[in-house]
Amino acid sequence: MQHDAVTPYKTADSKKEQVETMFNNIAPRYDFLNSLLSLGIHKGWRKKCVKWLEPYHPQHILDVATGTADFAIECAKLNPTSITGVDISDGMMAVGREKIKRLNLENVIALKNGNAETLDFADNTFDAIVVGFGVRNFQNLEKGLENLRRILKPGGHLVVLEFSYPKNPFIRGFYNFYFSKVTPFIGRIFSNDTRAYTYLNESVKAFPHDDAFVTIMKKTGFQNATFSGLSFGIAAIYTGKK
Ligand SMILES: C[S@@+](CC[C@H](N)C(=O)[O-])C[C@H]1O[C@@H](n2cnc3c(N)ncnc32)[C@H](O)[C@@H]1O
Repeated sequence: MQHDAVTPYKTADSKKEQVETMFNNIAPRYDFLNSLLSLGIHKGWRKKCVKWLEPYHPQHILDVATGTADFAIECAKLNPTSITGVDISDGMMAVGREKIKRLNLENVIALKNGNAETLDFADNTFDAIVVGFGVRNFQNLEKGLENLRRILKPGGHLVVLEFSYPKNPFIRGFYNFYFSKVTPFIGRIFSNDTRAYTYLNESVKAFPHDDAFVTIMKKTGFQNATFSGLSFGIAAIYTGKK
């Protein structure tokens, strides 16, 4: 199935509306489940992305699909002037705002409601844009990426972190079992939403990963687009430049 057609609830609502509802439902348990299901590995992945940006000293950073703001908070280590987090789920951002407050980062990080595909920031606004586990949920992937490129400054960088697909057959077997059985089972128990972690499995499977995503980055105008696998190819960092 085409990845854009993979939706959480399979209702008549748009993918954007379904995704928004789903993340509002799971928001209170999202961080807990993230840590439980990934055994904390996801933190190291975001750290790696932020380290990749370090040599470029970005001053104005946008975290798209910020959710509970973990990526935005990690970006604060780069000592930028500003970090803006945008997301379509107010529930996720409410959890993020609490964390930002606790960490005294309110003067650096601001969160606001916004859809990646229709963000209305001026052209050439940001030095760097990061997206963690967000592009998979876009209703129209190419439209989203084109819009991100528009608001990136010339020479600015895009860093996308997303689930991928391990190449090693043993790890792939475990990965398939984990995503199709373990994750939906635990997700159903803890998350307040019976579909969310089954959608996770379906959307990861349908997502154009590795070279296929790099091809879409190039098509939407990013230069030097490339990827690097993380943790045996479970996830990947995609980078590109405007
Ligand atoms: C899996 S969470 C990732 C949150 C965070 N980036 C992280 O690394 O943990 C995906 C987030 O993407 C948001 N999202 C999905 N589609 C979006 C869109 N078109 N524009 C902005 N945010 C979107 C969801 O609301 C959700 O908070």
